[in-house]
Amino acid sequence: MTKIDYSSKIPNNVDLASDKRLQRALERWQPAYLEWWHEMGPSDFDSNEVYLRTAVSVEPDGWAHFGYVRMPEYRWGIFLEPKEADRRIPFGDFAGQPAWDEVPGEYRADLRRIIVTQADTEPASVEQQRLLGHTAPSLYDLRNLFQVNVEEGRHLWAMVYLLHRYFGKDGREEAEELLERRSGNPDRPRILTTFNEPIETWLDFFMFTMFTDRDGKFQLLALAESGFDPLARTTRFMLTEEAHHLFVGQTGVGRVVQRTAEVMREHPDSDPREHGAIPLPLLQKYIHFWVSSCNDLYGSEVSSNAANYFAAGLKGRAYEEKKYEDHRALDESMVIEKFEDGRLVSEEVPLRNALNELLRREYIQDNQKGIDYWNRILDKYDVDFEFRLPNPRFNRKIGLYAGSHFDPDGNPVSRDEFERRRGEWLPTAEERDYVKSLMQPVLERGKIAGWIAPPKKGINGQPFDFEYVRL
Ligand SMILES: [Fe+2]
Ligand SMILES: [Fe+2]
Repeated sequence: MTKIDYSSKIPNNVDLASDKRLQRALERWQPAYLEWWHEMGPSDFDSNEVYLRTAVSVEPDGWAHFGYVRMPEYRWGIFLEPKEADRRIPFGDFAGQPAWDEVPGEYRADLRRIIVTQADTEPASVEQQRLLGHTAPSLYDLRNLFQVNVEEGRHLWAMVYLLHRYFGKDGREEAEELLERRSGNPDRPRILTTFNEPIETWLDFFMFTMFTDRDGKFQLLALAESGFDPLARTTRFMLTEEAHHLFVGQTGVGRVVQRTAEVMREHPDSDPREHGAIPLPLLQKYIHFWVSSCNDLYGSEVSSNAANYFAAGLKGRAYEEKKYEDHRALDESMVIEKFEDGRLVSEEVPLRNALNELLRREYIQDNQKGIDYWNRILDKYDVDFEFRLPNPRFNRKIGLYAGSHFDPDGNPVSRDEFERRRGEWLPTAEERDYVKSLMQPVLERGKIAGWIAPPKKGINGQPFDFEYVRL
C-alpha cells in the first residue's frame, strides 16, 4: 500500500476507497479546507504556477516530483509510511506489547489532545505567513515560501485523517475547529502562543522556519515513536517534508548573515543599515525572540502530563528506539534548576517527569548547530561577532521560569531591570520597522533584494535565475 493513489479525489496510500464512510467524510471536509486555504492561505498568488514538489511515493528516497502547480490545485493528500510487520510499543509501561492499530479507549482523550495540538500548528503557520508573498526577496524565496505553505497544509491533512479515521464524531468536530481558529485572533486564537505571533517580515519567516519548524521536528520525532501505530507512521512521513522547511530557515538566516558580513567588509566604518543590511546585533535579538518563544512550546520542565504520555506509550523520546536501551525510564532522573526565593536550586527529578525538558535540551543542541553554521559564515568574512542561543530561562512565559526574569545568559534580574534592558535583548519597535522597511519585493528572475545574499544553488538542480514562480 505504499503507492500513492492520485486518481481519487483525495490522493492517498491508505486505501481510502475501501472505507466509503470515511472517504465521504473527508470529501466533505475537503471543500471547507479549500475555502480556508483561499481565505487564509497565501494572499493573491492563486493563479500563478509555482515550481513545487509533490509526494509521489513514501519511500525514503525519490519521493518528490517537481513541476509547475497552481497552489489551489496542489494535490493535498494522506500519506503514511508503510506498516512495519509486528511492530511493538517501543517504550513506557507497555513496552514490547503489540503496537495499537486502533485508539485504546482509556487513552482516547490524551491522544486526541496530542493530535489536535500538533494539527493546530499546521494551518496556524500558513496563516502567519500569508502576506509574505508580497515582499519576497527573490523568486527562489517566493517558491520556498509556497512550498512550505502547501506542505503545512498537507500536514493538516495528515492529522485530520487521524481525527476522522480514529476519533469518530469528536474527531470530525475537531477537524472543523481546526479550520475555524485563526492565528492571532483574540477571540479564537491558535492553541500555542508562538503560532499566534505575527510573521511580518522575511527575517521572521527565516527565524520561524529555523527555530519553530525545528520544534515541529522534535515533536514529530517524539510522536514518530508512538505506540499508536497510525500516528507513528503519519509523523514519520511528515518528518521527511520537514527537513526542507528547516533548510529554508537555516540557509535563509545564513544568507542574511552573509550579506551583512559583505556590507561590513565593504564599508567597515559605517552602520550596515546605511547600506540596507541588517546589523548582526539586531539579528541576535531576533534569535532571542524566536528561540525563547519556541522554548515555551515544550511545556513545563517538570510535567506529569509528559510522564503519563510516556507511561502510556503515546509520546516517546526523540529517537527512542535507536538511542536508548532502557525504554521504561523508571530508574533514571534528571537535574533541573528551579528558581526559588530568588535563587537557582538544582533538583533531581524522575526522568519521566522531565521528558519535556529532555526534548527541549535536544532541540537546543540541534539549534546550536545552526548557530555554529552562521558563526562559520562570520569567520569566513573575518567578522568579530558571535551568535549565541539565549539561556533557556530567558524570556519564558511557560514553565518554571515564567513570572521571573533572566538576562540572555540566564542570570536572574529584577522585573525593572528586564523592562529597562528589554531593548538591548529583544527587537524594539523601531528596529522592527527598519527590518520592515527593507521588505520590498524583488520578483525579477535572477535578481535579489539587497539585505540577503543569493543561495549557493537553486532547487532541484535548477539555477538561481530559474523561473520558480510564473508571474
Ligand atoms: Fe508541519
Ligand atoms: Fe514545517
